Amino acid sequence: MKVIEKIDELRLYLEPLRCKISEKKSQKTIGFVPTMGALHKGHISLIKEAKKKSDFVVCSIFVNPLQFNNTGDFTNYPISLEKDKKMLEKAGCDLLFLPNSDTMYQNPVRTKMAFEALDNVMEGTHRQGHFSGVGIVVAKLFNLVEPDHAFFGQKDLQQFAIIQQMVNDLSFPIELHCCTIKREEDGLAMSSRNRRLDEDQRIIAPKVYESLILTKKMLKKGESVEKSQQAGISYLDKYKEFETEYLEIVDASTLQPLAPKKKLKKIDSATRIAICVATKLGDIRLIDNIIID
Ligand code: PAF
Repeated sequence: MKVIEKIDELRLYLEPLRCKISEKKSQKTIGFVPTMGALHKGHISLIKEAKKKSDFVVCSIFVNPLQFNNTGDFTNYPISLEKDKKMLEKAGCDLLFLPNSDTMYQNPVRTKMAFEALDNVMEGTHRQGHFSGVGIVVAKLFNLVEPDHAFFGQKDLQQFAIIQQMVNDLSFPIELHCCTIKREEDGLAMSSRNRRLDEDQRIIAPKVYESLILTKKMLKKGESVEKSQQAGISYLDKYKEFETEYLEIVDASTLQPLAPKKKLKKIDSATRIAICVATKLGDIRLIDNIIID
């Protein structure tokens, strides 16, 4: 696996892969998996998906300061570069782009991105400026790598919706893929931040997924959105360790909350519903979601 740290070198390296349009056979499709490192099986499943859909797979590792609204979260973000490299190599990644902050942001970034309705709910309201930072780094990485396909995890459902909107609005010629959440055996969604959970926190962390399952069951039983949501929140509130920020039942495409009195049987069958949760265990923020088709 080739490792590149500098932008010019990255462009020089990738250019010949795309430029051979005249000799059609040697043109390669590029699949891209942007990450912040501390890789786990969820990331590796994205690399494997990228390998299926493209000829050449690029992964980036960059802990993007612009998307952290909490300094502690940024400074404590787990890093395991040597292990990450081995995992990527084993998964068949072709190139790792590993820039540092000076390379990515030579000058202070003054551009901001706004995503309107998609940013006015859930993560957007609890993490001011987060999605602007995500949008800027992803747009920048897309400009540098110029992939044909890009792969993201469903765990960050709102992030995916926002990046899809940005790709459509700015006409990036990139096909996005939202890949299913990978879970531990007890249901906990895989996340780099899970490494920071202590033994006791790790034991109760799967309750987050259980709260989603309970909410889904209530909806399926015919309870209203409001009652089902309340049941999910109360389930987490039983554990004093959780500080729940939201548990929302939303339209999976628009991410707007469903009307509180609505019941499943009154919802158009074409609507995909997502139940999304964010809660804190100590200073570790966990998010998760499930989609009901
Ligand atoms: O999902 C992530 O790991 C990050 O938000 C991303 C997309 C790599 C941008 O920094």
